[in-house]
Amino acid sequence: MTAENEPALGRRNYEQFARRYAEAVPTKPHNAYYDRPAVLALLPELRGKRVLDAGCGPGIYAEELVNRGASVVAVDVTPEFVAMTRGRLGERATVLEADLEQPLDFARDAEFDVVVCPLVLDYIEDWQPTLGEFHRILKPGGVFAFSQGHPWNDWQLASARGLVSGTYFDTERYTMEWHGFGEPYPRITAFRRPLEAMINPVIDAGFQIERIVEPRPTEEFRAVDPERYERLMREPGFIGVRAVKL
Ligand SMILES: C[S@@+](CC[C@H](N)C(=O)[O-])C[C@H]1O[C@@H](n2cnc3c(N)ncnc32)[C@H](O)[C@@H]1O
Repeated sequence: MTAENEPALGRRNYEQFARRYAEAVPTKPHNAYYDRPAVLALLPELRGKRVLDAGCGPGIYAEELVNRGASVVAVDVTPEFVAMTRGRLGERATVLEADLEQPLDFARDAEFDVVVCPLVLDYIEDWQPTLGEFHRILKPGGVFAFSQGHPWNDWQLASARGLVSGTYFDTERYTMEWHGFGEPYPRITAFRRPLEAMINPVIDAGFQIERIVEPRPTEEFRAVDPERYERLMREPGFIGVRAVKL
């Protein structure tokens, strides 16, 4: 719950269509053939590592992390996703309902080797407390990897549709109907921000940035959606970052 005691923004977004999201993302090109290959490539060897999947959704990442030999804690703020991830993984992972905007009371200092947070931070306005918690729970030398909407793409999309009134350099909340998951169309509220507002909070939290990726779609993407493939080969849709705790 937020300070105003209403459900977190991420939950309000995803409870509108959690089941349809879960059915789509195993094979939806933007997830399966664009985001996941890029983010998984940012991760170190996972065998025997303790990994937090922060904002696990229906558990596709968590399952892959477990299959790679990690000991996984998966958390999400949307109860339907927590139930789905528990159903998917059973005893093979610890799955908890948790809001990443609140202290991560389930985790000890320096407990984790890796925190992975794909496509989640778009729904959090102030990253500092969340990144501070990720830093606290990681071991020194631990890896934090995340992805989210590319700042240039989010700006283009939101400004072209008149959804924001500021400049590229502002951090702004905007709401968009998503048409990629069938009807009724969910109305998704997120925050767009410039590149500096994605990178500097990571550095300020005590991380060293190791790698930035502006992913390219894979050949599988081309096979199922050639038009969007061509577009994503010309201009970015998402951005991925790997940082290490100093
Ligand atoms: C686009 S989905 C990504 C799911 C998963 N990471 C993946 O890539 O398959 C965004 C997820 O972030 C979760 N989320 C959003 N805000 C959150 C918060 N404050 N705390 C925990 N989870 C949050 C949503 O419930 C949803 O599962």
